[in-house]
Amino acid sequence: MNDKTTKILLDEEDIPKEWYNIQADLPTPLDPPLNPATLKPLKSDDLKAIFPMGLIRQEMSTERWITIPEDVRDIYRIWRPTPLYRARRLEKYLKTPAKIYYKWEGVSPPGSHKSNTSVPQTYYNLEEGIEVITTETGAGQWGSALAFGTKLFGIKCRVYMVRASYEQKPYRKSMMQVWGAECLSSPTDRTKSGRAILEKDPNTPGSLGIAISEAVEDALSDDNTHYALGSVLNHVCLHQTIIGLEAKRQFEQIDEYPDVIFGCVGGGSNFSGTVFPFLYDKIKGKKPDLRVVACESMACPKLKSGLYTYDFGDQAGLTPLLKMFTLGHDFVPPPIHAGGLRYHGNAPLLCNLYNDKLIDAVAYYQTEVFNAAITFANTEGFIVAPESAHAIKAVIDEALRCKKDNTPKTILFNNSGHGYFDLSSYEAYFDGRLVDYEYPAELVKQSLERLPKI
Ligand SMILES: Cc1ncc(COP(=O)(O)O)c(C=O)c1O
Repeated sequence: MNDKTTKILLDEEDIPKEWYNIQADLPTPLDPPLNPATLKPLKSDDLKAIFPMGLIRQEMSTERWITIPEDVRDIYRIWRPTPLYRARRLEKYLKTPAKIYYKWEGVSPPGSHKSNTSVPQTYYNLEEGIEVITTETGAGQWGSALAFGTKLFGIKCRVYMVRASYEQKPYRKSMMQVWGAECLSSPTDRTKSGRAILEKDPNTPGSLGIAISEAVEDALSDDNTHYALGSVLNHVCLHQTIIGLEAKRQFEQIDEYPDVIFGCVGGGSNFSGTVFPFLYDKIKGKKPDLRVVACESMACPKLKSGLYTYDFGDQAGLTPLLKMFTLGHDFVPPPIHAGGLRYHGNAPLLCNLYNDKLIDAVAYYQTEVFNAAITFANTEGFIVAPESAHAIKAVIDEALRCKKDNTPKTILFNNSGHGYFDLSSYEAYFDGRLVDYEYPAELVKQSLERLPKI
């Protein structure tokens, strides 16, 4: 690496051959998911109606390394390995002694990290002869990633898109249509769960929790239809470890190692996938001082303000009960522009590690997040997704602390996606129409009172 190197690249042949499963190395074992009817630990049979066995096995596996099928690696070749960038112009602008690196996941065809899991999820469903996959989507990134994955493998896809985002981001819907998927504004009147919400509040902005209920209900109604989740679950975090595994190799190439890692957190998948391969070194005592920081929205700060307990993954209570930090499954977060962060819960693996104090968290208002996104676009050039900008805000704060204390830290963050379909949010920022929602303490309190009693 010379003093101008900006991209640290790997060859296609360097795409990892195995995902890293942190379940093998957790200091505290994971609390099992519970069957919502019996409240007993879930058995693999309980999940068979909505997931293929290949994914159920991964969900429960404690093997450290899991082989990536060659057909999946072949599709990964379209955009992987992704570049690791050195943000030299941002460093210069901030006058920081810190070195800032970011993994750029915006290069995938749908524009985010989500295709790292939509492709293998489709693969395992195809293996079982499934014909249709349903899902929910917040900002539309996951819906478009699944539309892309299912199109390449020839499976049909139906996406329930949160109403607030469906209206804010119409071109995401067009993208899903290009890849042959059906995209519906959730809540819909097609499902029992959707109709119940619409009856209570016809003007609801929707939420990921509601859209998940609709997609699961749809999948349960037909044997040839399965459901796919774009975040939260162990197998999703597993697939996303390809980000951190590549990043580790890229750091090896330049003989560096990050001191601190940031990533934004909706359901926790891009953050987990980035940090888990590095956390392995922390857990094993090879890098005890490594700090990893989850960046949340102030409108939906489950790690910072939620309870660590069993809760449903969806609004209607159709999913298994997961032990996680939650703001309550029926809490409807304010309609911030980072739609992908509007989720009440979080990945059980991430929550387990946060509870063990191996992970820190911060939360931000959306105006300061957009300020950071603009600084990034004006220095590094890329216009990022509002979700990803939460990590950039944290990185800028850290780099400025490094400047104040004169500590030349090495910072890594995951830049989870581009913002080309989020330009209406940027427009709202420039028009002064962004609202900084306070942490909705009273709504969260009411929702937490309705947690399932275990
Ligand atoms: C670009 C982008 N980043 C981050 C997220 C948050 O999801 P997760 O926490 O699962 O990575 C989303 C979710 O839609 C997203 O679209």
